[in-house]
Amino acid sequence: MYNSEELKDKILKLKKEKNAVILAHYYQEEAIQDIADFVGDSLELSRKASQTDSEIIVFAGVHFMAETAKILNPNKKVLLPDLDAGCSLADACSADEFANFRYQYPDHLAISYINCSAEVKAMSDLICTSANAVKIIQSIPKGQPILFAPDKNLGKYLIRETGRDMLLWEGACMVHEAFSIEKIMEVWKKYPKAKLVAHPESEPHLLKVADFVGSTSAMLKFVQKDDHPSYIIATEAGILHEMQKAVPQKVLIPAPSHENNTCACSECAFMKMNSLENLYQCLKLGAPEITLDPDIQTKALLPIQKMLNIS
Ligand code: 13P
Ligand code: SF4
Repeated sequence: MYNSEELKDKILKLKKEKNAVILAHYYQEEAIQDIADFVGDSLELSRKASQTDSEIIVFAGVHFMAETAKILNPNKKVLLPDLDAGCSLADACSADEFANFRYQYPDHLAISYINCSAEVKAMSDLICTSANAVKIIQSIPKGQPILFAPDKNLGKYLIRETGRDMLLWEGACMVHEAFSIEKIMEVWKKYPKAKLVAHPESEPHLLKVADFVGSTSAMLKFVQKDDHPSYIIATEAGILHEMQKAVPQKVLIPAPSHENNTCACSECAFMKMNSLENLYQCLKLGAPEITLDPDIQTKALLPIQKMLNIS
């Protein structure tokens, strides 16, 4: 067993030897964010994945993100430290059910949130992330009916923001759905002036009282630009690492969730399946690797490329 510092050294050495790049989402544990070549949100990570010269991409994130990197780089090796690192949104939208949904509404354009499987992407007309979703919806001519999957909370937020009526799939993020407004009100008793900054995967009643709603990268930019001393952050707690580095003088409070009586923050169990240890093993062994059906890969690339062109 190596300690954290030894693991970091070994990862950095192997990464260089193997010409690998480590892409990490903001929700990863701090040590992984610190060692990554790039830390970002879903959109930024897709962009980085499409631009890298490295032979191997190690994705410190969840399965759909690594799949997206593979779709964008069919000839590269894409590794994910734990193939079981899924997502409740992707799990809520099986390829069969989605095919059926599309079949029922043949005139609708299908826009899917990037948090879905490669099979669902392959059946979609356009992909979006939370950072570009408003722009993507606005790019569709008025009058064109739209169905949106799989996040109903993001979907409802987009309907409010764009004024477009969309048919919504019934999926939700188990982390963002767990935030408790009652417990947030308890936090406000202690920090009455703290602004609430929320990710659009959160429920409508929470977004309604939020001072700012945006993707993880937009939240990060907001707390940097906004002149205020304290914020309650309603998204996965991993973002607080990058945020606190950016605004060391500000008080950042993770939004409490229903299940957690100690008022601690919500964490995504899938994101936290990655550790320095399995990241090291994955680089050393060159596995587990993301593999995709070539037909699915080709079809899924089109709506992702369209998204990257629009945003
Ligand atoms: P963004 O990275 O688009 O902010 O989305 C958050 C998320 O839940 C990723 O799984
Ligand atoms: Fe999926 Fe939610 Fe975890 Fe993001 S935070 S990976 S949306 S379960």
